[in-house]
Amino acid sequence: MADAQAIRDELASLAIEARDALSKATSEDEVEEARVRYLGRKGRLAQCMAAMPGLDASERPAVGQAANQAKAELNTLLDEAKQRLAREKAKAASAGFDPTMPGRAPAPGSLHPVTLVMEELCSVLQRLGFDVVSGPEIETDWHNFEALNMPPDHPARDMQDTLYVTDSVVLRTHTSPLQIRSMLATEPPVAVIAPGRVFRRDSDLTHTPMFHQIEGLLVDTASSLADLRGVLSSLCRQLFGPDTKLRFRPSFFPFTEPSVEVDISCSICGGHGGVGQDPCRTCKESGWIEILGAGMVDPEVFRHVGYDPERYTGWAFGLGIERVAMLKYGIGDIRMYFENDLRFLGQFA
Ligand code: DAH
Repeated sequence: MADAQAIRDELASLAIEARDALSKATSEDEVEEARVRYLGRKGRLAQCMAAMPGLDASERPAVGQAANQAKAELNTLLDEAKQRLAREKAKAASAGFDPTMPGRAPAPGSLHPVTLVMEELCSVLQRLGFDVVSGPEIETDWHNFEALNMPPDHPARDMQDTLYVTDSVVLRTHTSPLQIRSMLATEPPVAVIAPGRVFRRDSDLTHTPMFHQIEGLLVDTASSLADLRGVLSSLCRQLFGPDTKLRFRPSFFPFTEPSVEVDISCSICGGHGGVGQDPCRTCKESGWIEILGAGMVDPEVFRHVGYDPERYTGWAFGLGIERVAMLKYGIGDIRMYFENDLRFLGQFA
Protein backbone atom coordinates (compact mmCIF):
# COMPACT_ATOMS: atom_id res chain seq x y z
CA MET A 1 0.00 0.00 0.00
CA ALA A 2 1.43 3.37 -1.09
CA ASP A 3 1.90 6.14 1.41
CA ALA A 4 -0.41 9.10 0.69
CA GLN A 5 1.73 11.49 2.71
CA ALA A 6 4.87 10.51 0.86
CA ILE A 7 3.12 11.28 -2.43
CA ARG A 8 1.91 14.65 -1.15
CA ASP A 9 5.46 15.48 0.03
CA GLU A 10 6.89 14.49 -3.33
CA LEU A 11 4.29 16.63 -5.16
CA ALA A 12 5.13 19.61 -2.96
CA SER A 13 8.87 19.30 -3.36
CA LEU A 14 8.80 18.69 -7.11
CA ALA A 15 6.78 21.86 -7.49
CA ILE A 16 9.33 23.86 -5.45
CA GLU A 17 12.26 22.39 -7.37
CA ALA A 18 10.57 22.96 -10.72
CA ARG A 19 9.89 26.60 -9.86
CA ASP A 20 13.51 27.07 -8.90
CA ALA A 21 14.89 25.33 -12.01
CA LEU A 22 12.59 27.18 -14.43
CA SER A 23 13.23 30.60 -12.93
CA LYS A 24 16.97 30.03 -13.40
CA ALA A 25 16.77 28.54 -16.90
CA THR A 26 18.79 30.58 -19.39
CA SER A 27 18.01 28.65 -22.56
CA GLU A 28 15.20 26.81 -24.30
CA ASP A 29 17.17 23.61 -23.86
CA GLU A 30 17.16 24.03 -20.09
CA VAL A 31 13.40 24.64 -20.10
CA GLU A 32 12.89 21.50 -22.14
CA GLU A 33 15.13 19.53 -19.78
CA ALA A 34 12.97 20.66 -16.83
CA ARG A 35 9.78 19.74 -18.69
CA VAL A 36 11.07 16.21 -19.30
CA ARG A 37 12.25 15.85 -15.69
CA TYR A 38 8.99 16.96 -14.06
CA LEU A 39 6.24 16.52 -16.64
CA GLY A 40 7.70 13.90 -18.96
CA ARG A 41 6.27 10.42 -19.47
CA LYS A 42 8.76 9.03 -16.97
CA GLY A 43 9.06 12.30 -15.05
CA ARG A 44 8.47 12.84 -11.36
CA LEU A 45 4.80 13.76 -11.69
CA ALA A 46 4.19 10.64 -13.80
CA GLN A 47 5.79 8.54 -11.07
CA CYS A 48 3.42 10.03 -8.50
CA MET A 49 0.47 9.24 -10.74
CA ALA A 50 1.74 5.71 -11.19
CA ALA A 51 1.67 5.21 -7.43
CA MET A 52 -1.98 6.30 -7.12
CA PRO A 53 -3.69 2.95 -7.73
CA GLY A 54 -1.91 1.64 -4.63
CA LEU A 55 -3.59 4.22 -2.40
CA ASP A 56 -6.49 3.57 -0.13
CA ALA A 57 -9.70 4.47 -2.05
CA SER A 58 -10.60 7.10 0.53
CA GLU A 59 -7.32 8.96 0.03
CA ARG A 60 -7.22 8.78 -3.73
CA PRO A 61 -9.49 11.78 -4.60
CA ALA A 62 -7.59 14.26 -2.43
CA VAL A 63 -4.14 13.09 -3.58
CA GLY A 64 -5.39 13.04 -7.17
CA GLN A 65 -6.54 16.61 -6.81
CA ALA A 66 -3.14 17.61 -5.40
CA ALA A 67 -1.44 15.91 -8.36
CA ASN A 68 -3.67 17.76 -10.85
CA GLN A 69 -2.88 21.06 -9.15
CA ALA A 70 0.84 20.29 -9.32
CA LYS A 71 0.46 19.50 -13.05
CA ALA A 72 -1.35 22.77 -13.74
CA GLU A 73 1.28 24.72 -11.82
CA LEU A 74 4.10 23.03 -13.72
CA ASN A 75 2.46 23.95 -17.06
CA THR A 76 2.11 27.58 -15.97
CA LEU A 77 5.76 27.70 -14.85
CA LEU A 78 6.86 26.29 -18.22
CA ASP A 79 4.90 28.90 -20.17
CA GLU A 80 6.26 31.71 -18.02
CA ALA A 81 9.83 30.52 -18.48
CA LYS A 82 9.36 30.34 -22.27
CA GLN A 83 7.89 33.85 -22.40
CA ARG A 84 10.67 35.24 -20.23
CA LEU A 85 13.33 33.77 -22.51
CA ALA A 86 11.57 35.20 -25.59
CA ARG A 87 11.48 38.66 -23.99
CA GLU A 88 15.17 38.45 -23.06
CA LYS A 89 16.05 37.39 -26.60
CA ALA A 90 14.19 40.34 -28.16
CA LYS A 91 15.83 42.74 -25.75
CA ALA A 92 19.33 41.40 -26.55
CA ALA A 93 18.66 41.79 -30.28
CA SER A 94 17.85 45.46 -29.94
CA ALA A 95 20.71 46.12 -27.52
CA GLY A 96 23.13 46.46 -30.53
CA PHE A 97 21.57 49.80 -31.46
CA ASP A 98 23.16 52.70 -29.69
CA PRO A 99 21.59 56.01 -30.73
CA THR A 100 24.50 57.97 -29.23
CA MET A 101 27.10 56.39 -31.53
CA PRO A 102 28.54 58.71 -34.22
CA GLY A 103 27.36 57.90 -37.76
CA ARG A 104 29.49 56.31 -40.47
CA ALA A 105 31.14 58.97 -42.63
CA PRO A 106 30.55 58.60 -46.40
CA ALA A 107 33.73 57.74 -48.31
CA PRO A 108 34.96 60.86 -50.12
CA GLY A 109 34.63 60.63 -53.90
CA SER A 110 37.33 61.59 -56.38
CA LEU A 111 37.48 62.78 -59.96
CA HIS A 112 37.60 60.21 -62.76
CA PRO A 113 41.01 59.97 -64.46
CA VAL A 114 39.43 61.04 -67.75
CA THR A 115 38.03 64.15 -66.04
CA LEU A 116 41.40 64.86 -64.41
CA VAL A 117 43.26 64.75 -67.73
CA MET A 118 40.49 66.70 -69.50
CA GLU A 119 40.68 69.45 -66.90
CA GLU A 120 44.47 69.56 -67.08
CA LEU A 121 44.41 69.82 -70.89
CA CYS A 122 41.80 72.58 -70.74
CA SER A 123 43.66 74.55 -68.11
CA VAL A 124 46.96 74.47 -70.05
CA LEU A 125 45.25 75.48 -73.30
CA GLN A 126 43.13 78.16 -71.64
CA ARG A 127 46.30 79.73 -70.29
CA LEU A 128 47.57 79.81 -73.89
CA GLY A 129 44.45 81.80 -74.87
CA PHE A 130 41.98 79.18 -76.13
CA ASP A 131 38.26 79.39 -75.28
CA VAL A 132 36.40 76.21 -74.27
CA VAL A 133 33.36 75.43 -76.44
CA SER A 134 30.93 72.54 -76.53
CA GLY A 135 28.37 71.13 -78.94
CA PRO A 136 25.78 68.38 -79.34
CA GLU A 137 26.73 64.72 -79.04
CA ILE A 138 23.93 63.89 -81.48
CA GLU A 139 25.18 65.66 -84.58
CA THR A 140 24.10 66.16 -88.15
CA ASP A 141 25.86 64.20 -90.85
CA TRP A 142 26.73 67.55 -92.39
CA HIS A 143 28.65 68.89 -89.34
CA ASN A 144 30.24 65.55 -88.52
CA PHE A 145 31.29 64.52 -92.04
CA GLU A 146 30.28 66.62 -95.00
CA ALA A 147 31.47 70.07 -93.93
CA LEU A 148 34.72 68.38 -92.89
CA ASN A 149 35.26 67.37 -96.49
CA MET A 150 33.93 63.83 -96.11
CA PRO A 151 31.08 63.65 -98.62
CA PRO A 152 28.73 60.65 -98.62
CA ASP A 153 30.59 57.55 -99.86
CA HIS A 154 33.98 59.05 -99.00
CA PRO A 155 36.19 56.11 -97.94
CA ALA A 156 37.46 58.03 -94.88
CA ARG A 157 34.00 57.62 -93.35
CA ASP A 158 34.67 53.90 -93.00
CA MET A 159 37.37 54.56 -90.42
CA GLN A 160 34.82 56.27 -88.20
CA ASP A 161 31.83 54.00 -88.57
CA THR A 162 29.18 55.22 -86.20
CA LEU A 163 25.69 54.85 -84.85
CA TYR A 164 23.06 56.49 -87.02
CA VAL A 165 20.01 58.07 -85.41
CA THR A 166 18.45 58.81 -88.79
CA ASP A 167 19.97 58.89 -92.29
CA SER A 168 21.32 62.38 -91.66
CA VAL A 169 21.82 62.40 -87.87
CA VAL A 170 24.64 60.53 -86.13
CA LEU A 171 26.27 60.16 -82.75
CA ARG A 172 29.32 62.31 -83.40
CA THR A 173 32.41 60.27 -84.21
CA HIS A 174 34.87 62.99 -83.22
CA THR A 175 34.96 66.50 -81.76
CA SER A 176 35.89 67.96 -85.16
CA PRO A 177 32.31 69.16 -85.90
CA LEU A 178 33.05 71.81 -83.27
CA GLN A 179 35.49 73.29 -85.78
CA ILE A 180 32.54 73.84 -88.09
CA ARG A 181 30.19 75.13 -85.39
CA SER A 182 32.82 77.55 -84.03
CA MET A 183 33.65 78.97 -87.46
CA LEU A 184 29.99 79.36 -88.36
CA ALA A 185 29.43 81.24 -85.10
CA THR A 186 32.18 83.87 -85.44
CA GLU A 187 34.58 85.57 -87.80
CA PRO A 188 38.35 84.99 -87.41
CA PRO A 189 40.45 85.12 -85.33
CA VAL A 190 39.26 81.87 -83.72
CA ALA A 191 41.08 80.03 -80.94
CA VAL A 192 38.92 77.32 -79.39
CA ILE A 193 39.17 73.95 -77.72
CA ALA A 194 36.29 71.50 -77.52
CA PRO A 195 36.44 68.61 -75.05
CA GLY A 196 33.71 65.98 -75.06
CA ARG A 197 32.29 62.52 -75.66
CA VAL A 198 32.45 60.81 -79.03
CA PHE A 199 31.06 57.50 -80.30
CA ARG A 200 32.21 54.82 -82.74
CA ARG A 201 31.26 51.28 -83.64
CA ASP A 202 34.44 49.91 -82.03
CA SER A 203 34.96 47.68 -79.05
CA ASP A 204 38.17 45.88 -78.11
CA LEU A 205 41.22 46.13 -75.82
CA THR A 206 42.06 49.65 -76.91
CA HIS A 207 38.68 50.89 -78.18
CA THR A 208 35.37 51.55 -76.41
CA PRO A 209 32.19 52.58 -78.26
CA MET A 210 32.21 55.82 -76.26
CA PHE A 211 35.37 57.76 -75.50
CA HIS A 212 36.57 61.35 -75.12
CA GLN A 213 38.47 63.74 -77.33
CA ILE A 214 39.62 67.29 -77.21
CA GLU A 215 39.67 69.33 -80.38
CA GLY A 216 41.75 72.45 -80.94
CA LEU A 217 41.28 75.04 -83.70
CA LEU A 218 43.11 78.23 -84.44
CA VAL A 219 42.28 80.44 -87.45
CA ASP A 220 43.98 83.75 -88.19
CA THR A 221 45.64 85.55 -91.07
CA ALA A 222 49.09 84.05 -90.62
CA SER A 223 48.88 80.88 -88.52
CA SER A 224 51.30 78.11 -89.41
CA LEU A 225 52.38 74.60 -88.46
CA ALA A 226 55.19 76.23 -86.46
CA ASP A 227 52.59 77.76 -84.09
CA LEU A 228 50.90 74.39 -83.82
CA ARG A 229 54.19 72.78 -82.91
CA GLY A 230 54.82 75.41 -80.24
CA VAL A 231 51.40 74.96 -78.69
CA LEU A 232 51.59 71.16 -78.75
CA SER A 233 55.13 71.17 -77.34
CA SER A 234 54.15 73.16 -74.29
CA LEU A 235 51.00 71.05 -73.88
CA CYS A 236 52.92 67.75 -73.96
CA ARG A 237 55.68 69.01 -71.69
CA GLN A 238 53.13 70.07 -69.11
CA LEU A 239 51.43 66.70 -69.28
CA PHE A 240 54.36 64.32 -69.57
CA GLY A 241 57.33 66.25 -68.19
CA PRO A 242 59.80 68.89 -69.47
CA ASP A 243 62.01 66.43 -71.40
CA THR A 244 59.19 65.22 -73.65
CA LYS A 245 60.07 65.42 -77.34
CA LEU A 246 57.64 65.82 -80.25
CA ARG A 247 57.73 64.25 -83.72
CA PHE A 248 55.50 65.19 -86.67
CA ARG A 249 54.81 62.47 -89.24
CA PRO A 250 53.03 63.11 -92.54
CA SER A 251 49.53 61.66 -92.59
CA PHE A 252 46.11 62.16 -94.13
CA PHE A 253 42.83 63.58 -92.84
CA PRO A 254 40.17 64.85 -95.25
CA PHE A 255 39.77 68.13 -93.36
CA THR A 256 43.46 69.13 -93.10
CA GLU A 257 46.13 69.71 -95.74
CA PRO A 258 48.87 68.97 -95.01
CA SER A 259 48.01 66.52 -92.26
CA VAL A 260 50.30 65.19 -89.58
CA GLU A 261 50.27 62.63 -86.84
CA VAL A 262 52.11 63.71 -83.75
CA ASP A 263 54.20 61.36 -81.62
CA ILE A 264 55.75 62.07 -78.25
CA SER A 265 58.86 60.42 -76.88
CA CYS A 266 57.67 57.42 -74.86
CA SER A 267 56.88 58.47 -71.32
CA ILE A 268 57.49 54.93 -70.02
CA CYS A 269 61.00 54.26 -71.37
CA GLY A 270 62.03 57.88 -71.89
CA GLY A 271 62.30 57.35 -75.65
CA HIS A 272 65.01 54.66 -75.43
CA GLY A 273 62.76 51.82 -76.58
CA GLY A 274 63.53 49.82 -73.46
CA VAL A 275 63.92 49.97 -69.73
CA GLY A 276 67.31 48.44 -68.81
CA GLN A 277 67.46 45.12 -70.68
CA ASP A 278 63.67 44.93 -71.09
CA PRO A 279 62.03 46.02 -74.35
CA CYS A 280 59.35 48.70 -73.83
CA ARG A 281 55.93 47.30 -74.60
CA THR A 282 54.17 50.65 -74.45
CA CYS A 283 55.98 52.08 -77.49
CA LYS A 284 56.78 48.65 -78.99
CA GLU A 285 60.48 49.51 -78.68
CA SER A 286 60.22 52.46 -81.08
CA GLY A 287 60.69 55.11 -78.38
CA TRP A 288 57.71 57.04 -79.82
CA ILE A 289 54.00 57.06 -79.12
CA GLU A 290 51.33 58.51 -81.37
CA ILE A 291 49.06 60.82 -79.45
CA LEU A 292 47.13 63.01 -81.86
CA GLY A 293 46.17 63.99 -85.38
CA ALA A 294 46.53 67.53 -86.67
CA GLY A 295 47.11 69.68 -89.73
CA MET A 296 46.40 72.91 -91.55
CA VAL A 297 42.68 73.46 -92.10
CA ASP A 298 41.80 72.39 -95.66
CA PRO A 299 40.61 75.34 -97.83
CA GLU A 300 37.57 73.24 -98.70
CA VAL A 301 36.50 73.33 -95.04
CA PHE A 302 36.84 77.14 -95.03
CA ARG A 303 34.56 77.28 -98.07
CA HIS A 304 31.90 75.24 -96.23
CA VAL A 305 31.76 77.79 -93.41
CA GLY A 306 32.09 80.88 -95.60
CA TYR A 307 35.69 81.83 -94.67
CA ASP A 308 37.92 83.17 -97.45
CA PRO A 309 40.74 80.60 -97.90
CA GLU A 310 42.89 83.23 -99.62
CA ARG A 311 42.77 85.41 -96.57
CA TYR A 312 42.85 82.99 -93.64
CA THR A 313 44.94 80.05 -92.58
CA GLY A 314 44.33 77.80 -89.61
CA TRP A 315 45.34 74.62 -87.91
CA ALA A 316 43.51 72.03 -85.91
CA PHE A 317 44.27 69.05 -83.76
CA GLY A 318 42.31 66.23 -82.16
CA LEU A 319 43.49 64.10 -79.28
CA GLY A 320 42.03 61.07 -77.46
CA ILE A 321 41.78 61.69 -73.73
CA GLU A 322 41.64 58.06 -72.58
CA ARG A 323 44.81 57.40 -74.52
CA VAL A 324 46.63 60.33 -72.93
CA ALA A 325 45.44 59.25 -69.46
CA MET A 326 46.62 55.68 -70.16
CA LEU A 327 50.09 56.97 -70.97
CA LYS A 328 50.18 59.40 -68.10
CA TYR A 329 49.08 56.91 -65.45
CA GLY A 330 50.37 53.68 -67.03
CA ILE A 331 46.90 52.13 -67.51
CA GLY A 332 46.97 48.96 -69.61
CA ASP A 333 43.30 48.35 -70.51
CA ILE A 334 40.95 51.07 -71.74
CA ARG A 335 37.89 49.23 -70.41
CA MET A 336 38.95 49.87 -66.81
CA TYR A 337 37.80 53.47 -67.20
CA PHE A 338 34.19 52.41 -67.53
CA GLU A 339 33.89 49.39 -65.23
CA ASN A 340 33.26 51.56 -62.15
CA ASP A 341 35.61 49.54 -59.97
CA LEU A 342 36.41 51.67 -56.91
CA ARG A 343 39.75 49.90 -56.44
CA PHE A 344 40.76 51.43 -59.79
CA LEU A 345 39.00 54.77 -59.53
CA GLY A 346 40.16 55.40 -55.93
CA GLN A 347 43.80 55.53 -57.07
CA PHE A 348 43.36 58.94 -58.66
CA ALA A 349 42.15 60.77 -55.54
N1 DAH B 1 39.03 63.93 -85.87
C1 DAH B 1 40.16 63.08 -86.02
C2 DAH B 1 39.81 61.71 -85.46
O1 DAH B 1 38.94 61.60 -84.69
C3 DAH B 1 41.36 63.60 -85.32
C4 DAH B 1 41.88 64.85 -85.95
C5 DAH B 1 42.83 64.78 -86.93
C6 DAH B 1 41.42 66.07 -85.54
C7 DAH B 1 43.34 65.93 -87.50
C8 DAH B 1 41.90 67.23 -86.11
C9 DAH B 1 42.87 67.15 -87.10
O2 DAH B 1 41.47 68.45 -85.76
O3 DAH B 1 43.36 68.29 -87.65
O4 DAH B 1 40.44 60.76 -85.79
